[in-house]
Amino acid sequence: MNRRYRKTIIAGNWKMNKTPSEAKALIEEMKPLLSKTKWCEMVLCVPFTDIQAAVKAAKGSKIAIGAENMHFEKSGAFTGEISADMLKELGVKYVIIGHSERRQYFNETDETCNKKVKVAIENGLRPILCVGESLAEREQDVTMEVIRKQVKIALQGVEVEDIKKVVIAYEPIWAIGTGKTATSEQANEVCALIRETVAALYGKAAADAMTVQYGGSMNAKNAAELLAQPDVDGGLIGGASLKAPDFAAIIDAATRG
Ligand code: PGA
Repeated sequence: MNRRYRKTIIAGNWKMNKTPSEAKALIEEMKPLLSKTKWCEMVLCVPFTDIQAAVKAAKGSKIAIGAENMHFEKSGAFTGEISADMLKELGVKYVIIGHSERRQYFNETDETCNKKVKVAIENGLRPILCVGESLAEREQDVTMEVIRKQVKIALQGVEVEDIKKVVIAYEPIWAIGTGKTATSEQANEVCALIRETVAALYGKAAADAMTVQYGGSMNAKNAAELLAQPDVDGGLIGGASLKAPDFAAIIDAATRG
């Protein structure tokens, strides 16, 4: 983290977990544990069906609610999809874009991510753009090329004055839900590369101000070490965001660090 330049953001990604009543109960359980958040922004990205209950439960707290995906069109014949407008009206502030599970199972590409990032910004939603290499790509030593390409394509056409609204999450695919975490050096190396890539496109000041998160089996035990890295400005947390004490411990690490 480097608080002189940028905000720390800890975001949960609940994936396909929790019904609305379970979402309400979990947020109620989290609220008293998450009081000291001066240095850290807290976000919970929840399933579409939980958004209304989550926004209501989080009212009066510092927790912002995010979505896990959205469509890039405003409206129309896209059965089963959800638009930025629909999210905005419910009080959503953040939206995850290009999570590796969406790239892997739902044909998300760098090009669709690019459309979604721009539509999110136009609608006042902060995109959390996910990038990351597969195990094969890491073993073939092409991680840096893969990340640079994902970042550059997803940001095409984003104006310099808007770039500060974008959060980028580095999520090595081999570390997601596997219990295998990147070492803090590996996490920092790629987060720094993301910042360099943004600097080449938008200048150093914009890159210095951007929050770059690490995600992939971040938990109560390893969060402090990962967040101590200078280019790791927060976390995108799956499994550990479904347990109030674990999520609170990560927020604590981000607040203390
Ligand atoms: P994990 O998921 O923390 O369960 O590895 C992270 C993510 O997919 O965003």
